[in-house]
Amino acid sequence: MNVDPFVTQDGSSTLYSKRYNQYYHNPNGALSESQTVFIERLNIAAHLKAQNGELKIFEMGFGTGLNFLLAAQAFLTSYHNLMDKDAAALHFYSVEANPISTELAATFHYPIDWQKGTMTEWISSSLNGLKKGWNHYQPEEDLPVFLHLYWGNIQDITELSPLNQGINFYFHDPFSIQQNPECWEPSIFERYKKWGCSQAKLSTYAAATQVRAAMAVAGWQVYKATGALGKREMTIASLEELPNAVLQDQQLKACDHQRLTERWNAGEWI
Ligand SMILES: C[S@@+](CC[C@H](N)C(=O)[O-])C[C@H]1O[C@@H](n2cnc3c(N)ncnc32)[C@H](O)[C@@H]1O
Repeated sequence: MNVDPFVTQDGSSTLYSKRYNQYYHNPNGALSESQTVFIERLNIAAHLKAQNGELKIFEMGFGTGLNFLLAAQAFLTSYHNLMDKDAAALHFYSVEANPISTELAATFHYPIDWQKGTMTEWISSSLNGLKKGWNHYQPEEDLPVFLHLYWGNIQDITELSPLNQGINFYFHDPFSIQQNPECWEPSIFERYKKWGCSQAKLSTYAAATQVRAAMAVAGWQVYKATGALGKREMTIASLEELPNAVLQDQQLKACDHQRLTERWNAGEWI
């Protein structure tokens, strides 16, 4: 096995990768970090309310599956309160080059009351009998929650079709740029742009200028946000320029798009 299980400070499970020499999450709190970086900073609850529960997410790096569970938790919280449930559905696309075993996933523990008790089994079930390429999984027959999991490298996904496009949010969650540089190239963010709806947003724990420049050169507007668990900064990117009122409300600070693009094009990070 290339991974060791690890219990983080908030009592939630993560893994340490011996291949990448890195934890899958912040050791101070896997669940707290993911909830802040992806669910809260992208304001998923507000989107669900405004869009009557229609939500499409693409995640880079399925790993332990925690981000899928947290997205489903946010979706189900909103779903139960919806008056009109007809169009509501969570489609969660994710990609993983090295899926973990179903037995390892069955050992994970999270200090949270899940919306549905069976959610503790969703990750091990989703990894059971996985095949290369796309796998489709609906954990509960009576709930419109769909996981589309690609076993392979993100570089190999050039088209999202025949699956639906119009991704609302990207959870960009590879290992760091030092350990996992191929996942931080402009070509990845260009694909995201192609697959996204016009208001698509992206979140990542990373705050390096090189990462932000790669996003800017791929056509994303880039913003600084406060990081999780005491980290100074993280990054949000948006396909449309966000109005000042939104920046103030969500405490985002715009990066200098032109300067980032110039620095990338001048070859600063080649
Ligand atoms: C930081 S971990 C992801 C954590 C995950 N989101 C979670 O909640 O557990 C990064 C993941 O990306 C995967 N990965 C790294 N490079 C990849 C690539 N080129 N294509 C697909 N997956 C990759 C790793 O195997 C690892 O599982």
